[in-house]
Order: sequence, then structure tokens, then C-alpha cells
Amino acid sequence: MTQSPEIRFRTSQLEENDGPPVNPTDNRTMGEIIAARFSRRDLLKGSLAVSAIAATVSPLALVAADEARAAEASAFKFDELDAGIDDKHHVAPGYDADVLLRWGDPLFADSPEFDPAKQSAEAQARQFGYNNDYIGYIAIDGSAEHGLLVVNHEYTTPHLMFPGMVKIVDKDGKKAAEVAPLSKEQVDVEMAAHGGSIVEIRKERGKWQVVRDGKLNRRIMSTTEMALSGPAAGHDRLKTNADPSGTKVIGTLNNCAGGVTPWGTYVMAEENIHGYFSGELPEGHKEAANYKRLGIPEGAYEWGAHYDRFNLSKEPNEPNRFGWIVEVDVNDPNSVPRKRTAMGRFKHEGAESIVAKDGRVVFYLGDDERFDYVYKFVTKATFNPNDRAANMNLLDEGTLSVAKFAEDGSVEWMPIVFGEGPLTAENGFSGQADVLIETRRAADLLGATKMDRPEDIQPNAGNGKVYVMLTNNSKRKAEQVDAANPRAANAFGHIIEIVEDGGDFVATKGKWEVLLKCGDPSVADVGATFSTATTANGWFGMPDNCAVDSAGRLWVATDGQGPKATGRTDGLWAVDTEGAARATSKLFFRVPIGAEMCGPLFAPDDQTAFVAVQHPGDGGEDWEAFGRPSYYEDPSTRWPDFKPDMPVRPAVVAITKQGGGKIAV
Ligand code: FEO
Ligand code: CA
Ligand code: CA
Repeated sequence: MTQSPEIRFRTSQLEENDGPPVNPTDNRTMGEIIAARFSRRDLLKGSLAVSAIAATVSPLALVAADEARAAEASAFKFDELDAGIDDKHHVAPGYDADVLLRWGDPLFADSPEFDPAKQSAEAQARQFGYNNDYIGYIAIDGSAEHGLLVVNHEYTTPHLMFPGMVKIVDKDGKKAAEVAPLSKEQVDVEMAAHGGSIVEIRKERGKWQVVRDGKLNRRIMSTTEMALSGPAAGHDRLKTNADPSGTKVIGTLNNCAGGVTPWGTYVMAEENIHGYFSGELPEGHKEAANYKRLGIPEGAYEWGAHYDRFNLSKEPNEPNRFGWIVEVDVNDPNSVPRKRTAMGRFKHEGAESIVAKDGRVVFYLGDDERFDYVYKFVTKATFNPNDRAANMNLLDEGTLSVAKFAEDGSVEWMPIVFGEGPLTAENGFSGQADVLIETRRAADLLGATKMDRPEDIQPNAGNGKVYVMLTNNSKRKAEQVDAANPRAANAFGHIIEIVEDGGDFVATKGKWEVLLKCGDPSVADVGATFSTATTANGWFGMPDNCAVDSAGRLWVATDGQGPKATGRTDGLWAVDTEGAARATSKLFFRVPIGAEMCGPLFAPDDQTAFVAVQHPGDGGEDWEAFGRPSYYEDPSTRWPDFKPDMPVRPAVVAITKQGGGKIAV
């Protein structure tokens, strides 16, 4: 995320702050054995001159360039959209992209209309939240045209939410921005704007509508009471002054991606929890190392000034109650969301799942930080498709494992179980609760492979494969390169494809390969591996979210492109994974400048693609290049033609084909 040098705005990705990565271990990243996989002779077979190898170019980048393959044209039948940059969203010709829900839109019959000048926590609690990320669809009566849309609201951006927050001042002859401190009332709006929305939607005459009086409509917020369940619930490390039982939590934070379970519940991943905590732990506190491993406290939010639970000096155990997967029963608007501790505690990106052959359910989980890990969780019991109630606590028992990617193309899933291997009292664990509370440290001890920021991970029932989005890692040094993370200073990210042994998602071993190294394939140093059938519009960088359509085809959404990074905004690309068109990519939709592309989700009939446009207008300098400020300011002083409909409100957009039919055949 581009930042004005004079000021630190809160951004989409606290993990992109320039601070050091927080993984302190020296787990080998297979740097030494890379030579075994890519010999010098192979390097010299590349199209680039030998002299280039001696320059600053990574030898592995040269290998990557050589791997780019000739291919057939994309199997996706739509006319490709032109990549570019402006202040609007764009979709491929022949499609409509209609805004369905924006920040502040009413969700209930009694909701106030959005008024940016009169925001309150009470109003926000009845309106669509901020910075939509994950989107899920839960059909009502099996319908592809009537269901519940579940949407995560990851974080808040005060300088874009509250008019008049930012003043541009002259500082030593340079323009600088100053942001006012938040009032308690504004903090309360922020807390209500976090979490998730559950909202009934219906397609009428080909267009989606919000059902404002839907009886299951609900807002989940940072003030919603939740339960802790599973092995860590009730543990001393989860007890606070407000909750001596260690089983009740107020709220959920930074809900990034997520999932919908096979039994129709909504799961929300708690990602960058470190920013919400401020203050200092008491001297010598036993959680110091645990919090350091997660970058806590980061202090980007001002909540700790108003609420003790976000102040480490007052409630030192509170951060242990965040960083979990939260499950919500959408069928009961009064149900208590449950934090499922069996699924581990880290910076959870998403939680997409699939039913394995034997009926157990497998969740793939990314920990989005530079040099952190890829996980999966396998339920102990099996899914019962005929009895929804029987599945409601499946997520409380199971095995969490972490991935070790070997240079021979195999992957091993190592169980994170107290008493096994190094996860013993000698290393400071007294039981499974400890292991789960400090999942990262447990994975460190197991020697998991340090990855380039694992984001969404998508199992694909269509072909039995699993796609892992690795968004980037600017901090990976040449000596830290390994087979699964093959580029130093990985600016553009890559996608790994896993096939579990026997095609069985519960397997403890599998095979992997890099599906795609991202970035501009016309720049040899980048080392991108899009097929030669990919056009100048079709390549992308920074894969983040993804979806598969019902034909099992991969669609990738990006986060972090822009004028400086790639000369194009973020968007949604269709990526061939099979046959001669493999690694061919095609642009379908792009977002306004400053936004990131989240969500992507296909309706069950493939006739709608729902996408989440997050933080449009963010990233000051970039936006100002278009003659408009990034900041949501007092219209009388800085933005005379401001209208609430301008694309500074994060929005869910429904994309349909003109005249109807599937999005892409
Ligand atoms: Fe919230 Fe890792 O993106
Ligand atoms: Ca993400
Ligand atoms: Ca992101």
C-alpha cells in the first residue's frame, strides 16, 4: 500500500508496515538445496545472457523466465478487459457490474439512511460495515437466486470515513497531511463498522436486491458477545478481569477472508489483530514472547485509550482471545458466535473447506505474514449431510497441521499436537491449549516452511487440487530463497498448487508445484511464468483472494497493484489451470484506484460473480494524481463536488452477463 511519506495512515495491511518480520526462527528455507533442483547448466539454458546472471538478477528469476510456456488461448470465453488505472470500476464487455451494498447502506427496516455527517455507533450497527472482504452465499431453500450474503468487514480507515479528519499542511515547503485524533464516538463507530454482515438478497428480473426486512439479517461487530470453545476455552491464559471464565469474548477483529461450511455456517478469520492493542505488558509478563511473535502491540488503533480490554497494561491476557476462527450460525440471528480454538491462533487469512472422501471436513488456513505458514485442519468427526444440528460443533475437535514443502516437490502436513515431537513441557507447553494459543511457535519448532505471506487457500472439488495464494514478500533475501518460495525480494507473489496423496484431502502428504509466478512477464528480471497466450492485460501481481467457479476454474483477486507497483489497478483475473492453456490469465474486472479486490464468489449457478471492492480511494499520492484527494474531507474545503455516491465507499458489486447466462463458459 502506497503511503504518503509524511504520515502513516492506517492501511489495509498492517503486515505491510516496514517493520521486521516477526518470525525469529532459522528454520531452513531450503536455500542450499535449491541448487539441486535448478542446476547451473539449467540456468544457462535460459534466453538471457550469462553476463546477466552476474548482475543483480536472481538466478532463480532467470529460471522462471525460461519456464514461461507457449500455450493455447484461454479457455474462458469472454472478451478481455483492458488493464489500466482510473477512479471507476470496469468489467469485461457484455457484462454489468452493479453496486449491491455499500458501506452505510441500511440492512434493516428501521435502519437510518447513510449520512456521513451524522455517523454514530447506533446507526452503524444497523448498516453495512466498512471495508468488505470475504463474501459467502448461503442458499435459502437451495436457490441460486435467493440466499444470505455473508460479508466480512475487515478494518476501518478513519481518514476515509470521517469528513474533516485530514488537513493538508505546509511543512518545510513540502505538503504534508495531518490526521486528527479520533473521539470516543468515532472509535465506537469503528467498532460497529468491523465484523460482518448477514443479509438476505434476492435476484429479481436479473438484478440482485437487498431484502431489508429479511428476518435473518444481522450485524456482527467488535462489540458482539462471543464464546470461546474447543481445547483452549477456559484456559488461564484466556481469562481476564471482565471474563474470569475464559470463555466469553466481546467481539471479533480484522475479519479478512473466511468461508461457508458444508453445513451452512459462516466462518470469519481474525487476521491482523495486533493493531488493536496498545499499552505495555507489566514488566516480565509471561506473554511477552507470545505477543512479540504476533507483533502485539502495534497500536495503529486508538481503542485502548477508551476501552481497557485493548490496553495491555490493564488486560494483559486479552490478545490471547483474538486471532481465532469464528463460526456463526446464520439460521438464528441471536446465536452466539463461537471462536473455534482447535483451529489455531495466528493471523488467519481465510478458512475454505471441503468434505473429504471419508466424510471428515478439511479446512485450509493461511497465516498472512512474511515468513509464516500454511495450515490445514481436519475435523475428528464426519460431516452429516442429513442432520445440520449434528455438525454444529465439528470445529471443536480435530487435527491442525502445518505444511513443510520439500525441494523434491512433496509436502508434508505436520500435526500440531501436544506431546508429539518438540511440542512438550520442555519447550514450555503444558497442554494442547498452550500449543494452540502459540500456534506459530509450535509450527516454528516443527520446522514448517516459511512462506511469502499465505493468503487465501482454495480446495477445488472439480480437480482435487488446492491453490495457495502467496501475495509477496519484499523481505526474502537471496539466501532465503527455496523451492516453494523461489524469488528473492518477491514483489509480485506466486501461486502454489497442491495435490494431496491419493487425491484425499485428509492425507498427511502430497505433491506441490508452482502454478504461477506473478508479475509482468515482459520484464525478464521479474521472472513471471504466465503462458505466452497471456496478453499485456492478462498478467497480474499480488494474488490475495481467489475463488473457483462451479466448473472448478480458478479466479484470482489481487491486492497491492497500482501506478507504481504494476501500472494497473487491482482486479479479478480468470486463470487456466489445466491442459495446454495452463497458466494463461485473463482480466475480467478491475477496481477504482486505491482499492483492493476482495471477495470473489460465484453464485451456485455461475450466473453472478460477487466481488468486494475494499478501500477505494486509499493511498493518497496515487489518487491525487487524478486531481482528486484520497481523503474523505469536508466538501466545502477540499472536495467541492463530493457526493456520497462517489467511489470512496467500499462496496459489494454483483457482476452479471447482459441477457443472462453463466459468467464464463
Ligand atoms: Fe486481510 Fe491478508 O489480507
Ligand atoms: Ca486477503
Ligand atoms: Ca489483502
